[in-house]
Amino acid sequence: MDFFATTAKGMEETLATELARVFADLAAKFPELREAKVGKPDRAGVPFSGPIAAAYAACLWSRIANRVLVPIHRFPAPNPEKLYGGAKAIRWSDHIDVRGTIAVDFQTTHSAITHSQFGAQKTKDAICDQLRSIHGERPSVDLVQPDIRVNVYLRNDEASVAIDLGGGSLHERGYRSEQRVAPLKENLAAAILYLGEYLPILAAGGALVDPMCGSGTIPLEAAMIATNTAPGLGRRRWGFTAWKKHDAKVWDALLAHAREVRVLDPKKVPKIVGFDEDPQAIRAALANAESAGLRGLVHFEKRELDAAEAPTGFETGLFIVNPPYGERIGDEKELAPLYRRLGDTMKKKFRGWRGGILTGSAALAKEVGLKASRRHVLFNGAIECRLLTYELYGGSRDPKKSESPATES
Ligand SMILES: C[S@@+](CC[C@H](N)C(=O)[O-])C[C@H]1O[C@@H](n2cnc3c(N)ncnc32)[C@H](O)[C@@H]1O
Repeated sequence: MDFFATTAKGMEETLATELARVFADLAAKFPELREAKVGKPDRAGVPFSGPIAAAYAACLWSRIANRVLVPIHRFPAPNPEKLYGGAKAIRWSDHIDVRGTIAVDFQTTHSAITHSQFGAQKTKDAICDQLRSIHGERPSVDLVQPDIRVNVYLRNDEASVAIDLGGGSLHERGYRSEQRVAPLKENLAAAILYLGEYLPILAAGGALVDPMCGSGTIPLEAAMIATNTAPGLGRRRWGFTAWKKHDAKVWDALLAHAREVRVLDPKKVPKIVGFDEDPQAIRAALANAESAGLRGLVHFEKRELDAAEAPTGFETGLFIVNPPYGERIGDEKELAPLYRRLGDTMKKKFRGWRGGILTGSAALAKEVGLKASRRHVLFNGAIECRLLTYELYGGSRDPKKSESPATES
């Protein structure tokens, strides 16, 4: 079967690498996944193919994907009539139970049909009219928790219709009970961990520090990686449960395996720390850790940036941060000293570590005063951001003892 995993712009290559790794890792236990093939990253997503287990594995294990789709039909839709006709040509009874509920997500770009709500309505009418004409009954609409979520992507007047197997965006892991202002999406946090090379750092026993952790998204995603927790394990709803082609046996086996391979022994997990000066942020982070089942595996503490330090006994690790970057005029001037302090903290207290800063402000990034080894363009919603990574060279954590300073720009 052919599938398509979507993600935010800028994360496609990371998603492709992740999917290949997920299939390879799981193939030892599920040999059918050897047939899974990951295609060339496309606009905001990655095509892949294989048995249904591949799609379920992507739903359960991808930290980067937004949606996992099963494309079912593609046709020209230059006007509402063609959209309706094309959608009506699909044999919906192969997918949907007439007594169930549906929702249609519709996205349109560079097309004559510009109104996504109108497109969704037309598609929904086609589905319901067709099913009613055959079965005398039609599914009802539930926009919030439908049994089946149909996804339509209209680009250059060409419609791609798919079933959304996740049943909604997969960045919702189900652990977020409390939210502070501007939390990162979980899949963006996971992407910056991958791009910041957290996997090799973790394999070498390195720690992780986020000195401005807010509601804890980055440390919690790191803890999910470090404990081999499948990101989908806490999700309460899926889009395939009521899908007519759902294979419950395959899914149940993947789920049981994911529960087995979780490593929740703090002695086996290198230190993961989140600091924030805001006590409410720390409270939210602790509540999220609790509901993610990660209490005792991540350390959250109220601390101002100047008091951030590497945990004792960890010569290497990842110092990763999503500082405020402001959207109002004047914010940049106000925030410049904070970015300078970030640079100083990395240079003086995290020698031998890798640094990573995700910011939406190029001007503020310059204030850090260190030369970035790499830059990745990512999108935090509509905001174009950069992840800047730094090699914080130096043999000693004590700057007075070290001859080799961090690279400065
Ligand atoms: C953009 S938010 C981080 C959001 C976080 N990544 C999340 O997903 O929830 C920036 C955070 O920096 C914290 N912060 C700002 N200045 C700080 C400072 N001087 N020391 C420590 N934390 C600070 C704020 O309290 C805020 O929670």
